[in-house]
Amino acid sequence: MFNLILFGPPGSGKGTQSERLISKYGLKHLSTGDLLRNEIASSSPLGMAAKSFMDKGQLVPDEVVIEMINSALDNNPQANGFLFDGFPRTTAQAEALDKLLGQKNTEIAIVLALEVTQEELVRRLLNRGITSGRSDDVNEDVIKARIQEYDRKTAAVADHYKKFGKVEYVKGEGNVDDIFELLCREIDKKHAA
Ligand code: AP5
Ligand code: MG
Repeated sequence: MFNLILFGPPGSGKGTQSERLISKYGLKHLSTGDLLRNEIASSSPLGMAAKSFMDKGQLVPDEVVIEMINSALDNNPQANGFLFDGFPRTTAQAEALDKLLGQKNTEIAIVLALEVTQEELVRRLLNRGITSGRSDDVNEDVIKARIQEYDRKTAAVADHYKKFGKVEYVKGEGNVDDIFELLCREIDKKHAA
C-alpha cells in the first residue's frame, strides 16, 4: 500500500492535483471536504451539522471527520493506497489517522505540501466562487477565515510528519502540469526507495 497526504492551504491546488495523481498511481481519493459536501447535498444530519461550521470557514469537529475517514478506510479494503486531501487538518486528526493506518499494518509514505502565497490563494478562491456554487468561496471574509484556521490549526500537521521525515515541499504556483511533474518526482523517489 502506498498512502500519501496532499497537504496545503485552502486553494493551493489539492483537489486539482489529486485528480491527476489518483489516475497515475491508482490510488483511492479521500477528500473530507468532498465527503462533507456529499453529506450536505443529501441533507443528512451529519451534513447539516457540518454546514454551519463550513459556511463560517471553520473546521468541523475532529470526531466527525475521523469517523468519516474510519468508515471510508473500512469501505475500501481493496484499495492499493489512499490519497488524503484536506485531511488530516489538526494534530489530533493526524494522530488518529496514524493509528487507523497502523491497525491495517500500513502508514503514510509521504506528505506533499503545496506552497502558495496568501494573495494567490484568495485570488483563486474568489475566482472559483464565481462558478463553483461553494458557499465558502463567495465571501472574502470566509476565505480569510479558512486561511486563518489553516495557520492556527492545520500548519502543525506538517510539523507532526516532519518528526518522521515524511514532508516534502513543492511550489504550488505556476503551470498545473509543471506542478504535477514536481509532485510525481517526489513520489517516484519514495516508490523507488
Ligand atoms: P476543503 O473542501 O478541503 O477545502 P479547502 O482545503 O479549503 O481547499 P479547497 O478545496 O478550496 O482548495 P484545494 O487546495 O483543493 O484547491 P483546488 O484544487 O480546488 O474543506 C472545506 C471545508 O470543509 C473546511 O473549511 C472545513 O469546514 C471542512 N473540512 C474539510 N475537511 C476537514 C477536516 N479534515 N477537518 C475539519 N473540517 C474539515 O484549487 C482551487 C482553485 O484554484 C480552483 O479554481 C483551481 O482551478 C485553481 N487552481 C488550481 N491549481 C492552480 C494553479 N496551479 N494555477 C492557477 N489556478 C489553480
Ligand atoms: Mg479541495
